[in-house]
Amino acid sequence: MSVTVILGTQWGDEGKGKAIDTFAGDFDYVARFNGGNNAGHTIVNEYGTFKIHLVPSGVFYPKAKCLIGGGVVMDPSVLIDEMNDLLKAGIQLEKRLFISPRAHVIMPYHKILDGLYEEAKGAGATGTTRRGIGPTFADKISYNGIRWSDFADNDLFTAKLRMQISLKNKIIAALGGTGLDFEKVRDEYRGHYEKIKPFITELFPIVQNGLKTGKKFLLEQAMGTCLDPDWGTYPFVTGSTTLASAATGGLGIPPRNISRVIGVTKAYTTRVGAGPMPTEIKDDERAASALREVAATTGRVRRGGWFDAELTRFAVQISGIDRLFLTKLDILSEFDEIKICTGYEFQGKRVHYYDLDSYQLDKVRAIYKTVRGWKEDIRGIRKYKDLPSKARAYVETIEKLVGTKIGWVANGPEREAVIKKQ
Ligand code: GDP
Ligand code: IMO
Ligand code: MG
Repeated sequence: MSVTVILGTQWGDEGKGKAIDTFAGDFDYVARFNGGNNAGHTIVNEYGTFKIHLVPSGVFYPKAKCLIGGGVVMDPSVLIDEMNDLLKAGIQLEKRLFISPRAHVIMPYHKILDGLYEEAKGAGATGTTRRGIGPTFADKISYNGIRWSDFADNDLFTAKLRMQISLKNKIIAALGGTGLDFEKVRDEYRGHYEKIKPFITELFPIVQNGLKTGKKFLLEQAMGTCLDPDWGTYPFVTGSTTLASAATGGLGIPPRNISRVIGVTKAYTTRVGAGPMPTEIKDDERAASALREVAATTGRVRRGGWFDAELTRFAVQISGIDRLFLTKLDILSEFDEIKICTGYEFQGKRVHYYDLDSYQLDKVRAIYKTVRGWKEDIRGIRKYKDLPSKARAYVETIEKLVGTKIGWVANGPEREAVIKKQ
C-alpha cells in the first residue's frame, strides 16, 4: 500500500508538474483531487513543453493510469483542448484517463460571475484566474451545481440548466453583465459531454481495488498551501482546499492510507494575484525582476520574493510533509547575496504566519538572514556533492529553518534536472 501526496507549500506554481513528472514513472495511478483548470502545471520532457490544467501530470508515463477525482471542477472546453494536444503529441488516453461523474462542471455563467465579482470588488479583488473556479465551488456547496452525472439523464440536465440560467441571468443583469441563451449553452455543453463521456466512470471501485491490491497512487494537488480557503490568506485564496487532507474527500482515499507527503517548494517565493506576501521584493528592481515569472494559466506576471521559511514551516506542519522537493535553485545563481526570511515581526512582537489574518500579514516585517550567493551556473549538475558549497549551505539552511529534510533539488525545468539529496 503506497499513497504519496505531492503538494505546493507556498502560493502555487512551486514546480509541482515537474515533481510529479519526476516520480510518476514508479506509480500505477496519478490523480488530481482538488482545484480545476485554474492550475497550470508545466512539464518539460521528451514530448515537448506542456502546461497542463486538468489531466494529471503522470500522463506521459504509459503505465500510469490518470484519475480526475470528484473534488475537481472542470471547464469542458479546456479539457477537450488539453486531451487533443496530448493525443497530437502521441499520448494515448483511452483506457488510461478516468473522470469522476461526481466532478462539477464549470458553466459559462460561472466564468461571467467570476469576472463580475472581481470587477465589483475593485481594489479589494482577489485577482482570480477568472476561470469560474470560485462560483463553481460556491454552486457546489449551495446545492446549485451541475455534475457530469447529471448529463447522463438529458431531462435532468436540461431542467437543471434551465433553472440555473434563469437564476444566474438575474444576477448577471443586476451586476451589469449580459445574460446567456439557454439553448445555445445546452447545445454547446451536450456536444462537450459527448466527447468526454467515454472517460467518465465512477472511481470508487478503481481506487478501492487499487488499494487492496497494493497499487501505488501519486496524488497531485493543485495550487498551494497558502491558497487554501481555511488556512490560506483569505480572501486572497482559491475555492477548494489545498491541504494534503483534501485528497481524502476529493478522490475517496481513506486518510490512513496516505503514506507519504512531499512538499514542493521554490527556492524563493512567487505569488500571482492579490494578497499579502511578506517577502515580496519591492525595493530592489533588479532582484525582483530576476525572480518574476509568467503564469502558466493566465500569462500574468508572478510577483517575486525571497524564500519564506515561516510560511513553508507552516505548510510542512499543516500537511504533515515528510520531505521537500526544492525547485529552481538555478535561478538564484546570479545573486551576490540571497535573503531568507526566518520569521515575522508585527507591532514589535515575533509572530507566526497563523497568528495573523491577511490584512495584518500585509503589514508584517519579514526578518531576514542574508547569505552569500554561489555565482556559478549549476544547471548541469546531477550530484548533490558537486553543487558549490554555498549552494549546499543555502539548501541546508532551508532544511534547518523549515525543520524538514530536502529530498531532491531541481536545477532546471527539464526532466533530467533533479539532484537526489537523500
Ligand atoms: P506548478 O503549477 O507548481 O506545476 O508550477 P508551474 O509549472 O506553474 O511553474 C513552475 C515553472 O518553473 C515552470 O515554468 C517550470 O518549467 C519551471 N521549473 C520547475 N522546476 C524548475 C527548476 O528547478 N529550474 C528552473 N529554471 N525552472 C523550473
Ligand atoms: P497551480 O496548480 C498560482 C490563485 C489566483 C488567485 C487565487 C484565486 O498552477 O499552482 P481562482 O481562479 O482559483 O479563484 O483564483 O488563486 N491561483 C493560483 N496561483 N498557481 C495556481 O495553480 C493557482 N490557482 C489559483 O492567482 O490569486
Ligand atoms: Mg502553475
